[in-house]
Amino acid sequence: MLKGKKILLGISGSIAAYKSAMLVRLLIKAGAEVKVILTPSATQFVAPLTLSTLSKNDTYSALSTDETWSNHVMLGRWADIMLIAPLSCNTLSKMAAGACDNLLMAVYLSSICKVVVAPAMDEDMWLHPSTQKNIETIKTFGNEVIPVGNGELASGLTGPGRMAEPEHILQWLIQYFEINQDLLHKKVMITAGPTYEKIDPVRFIGNYSSGKMGIALADECKRRGATVTLICGPISQHIPAGVETIHVESADEMYAACHQLFPQTDIAIFSAAVADFKVKQQSNEKIKKTDTQSFVLELERNKDILQSIGAIKQAHQLVIGFALETQNETANAQEKLKSKNADFIVLNSLNDKGAGFGHDTNKITIFDKNGDVKAFEQKSKVAVAKDIINTIINFTHV
Ligand code: CTP
Repeated sequence: MLKGKKILLGISGSIAAYKSAMLVRLLIKAGAEVKVILTPSATQFVAPLTLSTLSKNDTYSALSTDETWSNHVMLGRWADIMLIAPLSCNTLSKMAAGACDNLLMAVYLSSICKVVVAPAMDEDMWLHPSTQKNIETIKTFGNEVIPVGNGELASGLTGPGRMAEPEHILQWLIQYFEINQDLLHKKVMITAGPTYEKIDPVRFIGNYSSGKMGIALADECKRRGATVTLICGPISQHIPAGVETIHVESADEMYAACHQLFPQTDIAIFSAAVADFKVKQQSNEKIKKTDTQSFVLELERNKDILQSIGAIKQAHQLVIGFALETQNETANAQEKLKSKNADFIVLNSLNDKGAGFGHDTNKITIFDKNGDVKAFEQKSKVAVAKDIINTIINFTHV
């Protein structure tokens, strides 16, 4: 079930720490390798000797002793996942603030793996606005939270705040590892949304792109373990936690952000609807109407971001573009594949109902640089994102 998975268990000071011994036993029985870090106060609730016996490994609780220094970076890098259970109110607040006053916090801050927490505290502490705010804050860092249970608490009160039961935590981990982490350690950048090309301080040229396709792709890549950066034009959609976002407005700003990020990128996906033209002479003052019946705005070409990235792409990097067509779809998509030196072009036709801007669904055909073509049914943008990522991954495995 968890065979060969390396689990770093952090235990903080809570009465629920007594359940950690059972948790370690379950993890070991499921085939995991377990190393345990305790905060100094956790050692008052559960004995390190118990945990080292059950985990068949040393336990760690101090950054250094007189003779040795615990290598927090290596502990963080060793793990496939870091599980903090129980997570006390105090350790939660340190995670939200980035405080580093013990070994557990040093490992948390330097870890590069997924971090999941199982909070445990009394009902009133759990419901306090600062605790709830801290939980939301650590979720925005990409950490996952196993919900607290409802029931009898150490105070004698009954309510929310109980740490999830060890069996429940075990099931969470099994499910987590069942999802394919096939983009682990990969860096993905995704452009999304429209660009706004400024006319004057109150007007712009834009388009109807919602950014939904790019966000679905970002979420899917993150779920598969990638480090994801979304370079996003003006949109009103919610961006999932754990996706770093660079907000831009114009095509020029998007171009600059893409070129800054691309050298460190493994996979670049261009789903933004970039304006092809910008206003040649932007006005710093609001343009007033005159008595004339027409008004001419001179436009000039924007740089083609995808094409400029395709031109500098290295052999280990994959570049994926989109094409939104209304006619000669296949010929146009194949032309874009070549002219932009992309590895894939994802075609969506405006002739298909439910495809394109604003919809929650899309219907795509993927063209790859080896000449393969794959058509898909109309699906939700979330399901389309899975199809696109599966196609990319299968391509790299051939
Ligand atoms: N693209 C880009 N920078 C631009 C224009 C487009 O990165 N300045 C990217 C889009 O994000 C998309 C692909 O290029 O991945 C679309 O190609 P494009 O030639 O712009 O498509 P259309 O605008 O539909 O082209 P055309 O006007 O020729 O139909």
